[in-house]
Amino acid sequence: MSINVLCNNIKETEILARKFANIIKDTGAFVCLYGEVGAGKTAFTKFVCQYLNVREKVTSPSFVILNEYKTGIIPVYHFDLYRLENEGINTIINELEEYSEGKILTLVEWAEFSQNAIPFDRIDINIEYIDENKRTFTFTAIGDKSNNTIKRLEK
Ligand SMILES: Nc1ncnc2c1ncn2[C@@H]1O[C@H](COP(=O)(O)OP(=O)(O)OP(=O)(O)O)[C@@H](O)[C@H]1O
Ligand SMILES: [Mg+2]
Repeated sequence: MSINVLCNNIKETEILARKFANIIKDTGAFVCLYGEVGAGKTAFTKFVCQYLNVREKVTSPSFVILNEYKTGIIPVYHFDLYRLENEGINTIINELEEYSEGKILTLVEWAEFSQNAIPFDRIDINIEYIDENKRTFTFTAIGDKSNNTIKRLEK
């Protein structure tokens, strides 16, 4: 299933991220974030971390592939595959699967760079740039766990 949310400004993105954080804090989630440069993948991630009470500074992990935040309500693993080299691409799917189980939140920016469709339960979030302040967030659930999460987001 899939739902669309229009955010007219950054504040509405913050409210959406707060709602998302409150839902997934009990269950964990594996999230792939899609959208052009500047769409808001990191901005959404920062707000979700804020509402999970992450105390570390959340920055884009572009140069390190993975940032880990352990101070929040649940552990957060923030990947950015933008700079992944070829040999990394071949093994990343197996690596990622280990981050898809249990009560943790994993967020993956530029998951399309893994080249293969990710074969496990996940939420795809596509962020469409409308104008300087407006974005459309499309949440698509793949699998039972993610379907339940999305249903709660709809309410
Ligand atoms: N409604 C909105 N939702 C999200 N971000 C917004 C919104 N309005 C304005 N912005 C701004 O858009 C920018 C989004 O940048 P961000 O770094 O999150 O993009 P990104 O998708 O992670 O890009 P990259 O591919 O470079 O990692 C931020 O400066 C943010 O403040
Ligand atoms: Mg980013």
